[in-house]
Amino acid sequence: MLNNKKTIVIYSSKSGFTKKYAQWLVEELHCDLKEASSVSASDLDAYDTIIYGGGLYAIGLNGVKLITKNFDLLKGKKLVVYAVGATPVREETTEEVRKANIPTEQLDHIAFFYLRGGFDYSKLTLIDKFLMSLLKIKLKKAKDPTTDQKGMLASYDHPMDFTKKKYIEPLLQYISK
Ligand SMILES: Cc1cc2nc3c(=O)[nH]c(=O)nc-3n(C[C@H](O)[C@H](O)[C@H](O)COP(=O)(O)O)c2cc1C
Repeated sequence: MLNNKKTIVIYSSKSGFTKKYAQWLVEELHCDLKEASSVSASDLDAYDTIIYGGGLYAIGLNGVKLITKNFDLLKGKKLVVYAVGATPVREETTEEVRKANIPTEQLDHIAFFYLRGGFDYSKLTLIDKFLMSLLKIKLKKAKDPTTDQKGMLASYDHPMDFTKKKYIEPLLQYISK
């Protein structure tokens, strides 16, 4: 078990999956935990290590700009970002998401992890429900659906939760280095 008082985990979570990983991280790190909407860049000055987690929405990492837009202020700190999405862990997807959300010049300074979350249609906002309804129409039209597409369609009726505490292990290892 690690004990690091100068670490904070910040999360932005629409349906609870990213929050669950944030709480697991705090259980292990015994550090501060804050929801992104209650944090401003100046609050981060007090910390040596900042872990930011956000859900993935059309490849965009919810709220990550708190880190990337304030990168100059955060120089010298250990910066870790984790993305939580419904899709299975695949190296090429992780790399695509990393590059889409972290500016090129920051890639070497921000450690990035992808953790599998889940999908709960009932917890979405009206806008997200609308967007997902459009996707559902597209998925239903697919002539030869992939396993991922079939899984996605099934999750509209039955919430899926793929989170596992053990998935935070590589991130914890990085923090302890
Ligand atoms: C409109 C919308 C777009 C999404 N886009 C992606 C995506 O691009 N990649 C992915 O893996 N999951 C995607 N998802 C699924 C969410 O990332 C997933 O449910 C995640 O666990 C949400 O985490 P949160 O509840 O902490 O925000 C999307 C979900 C919605 C509603």
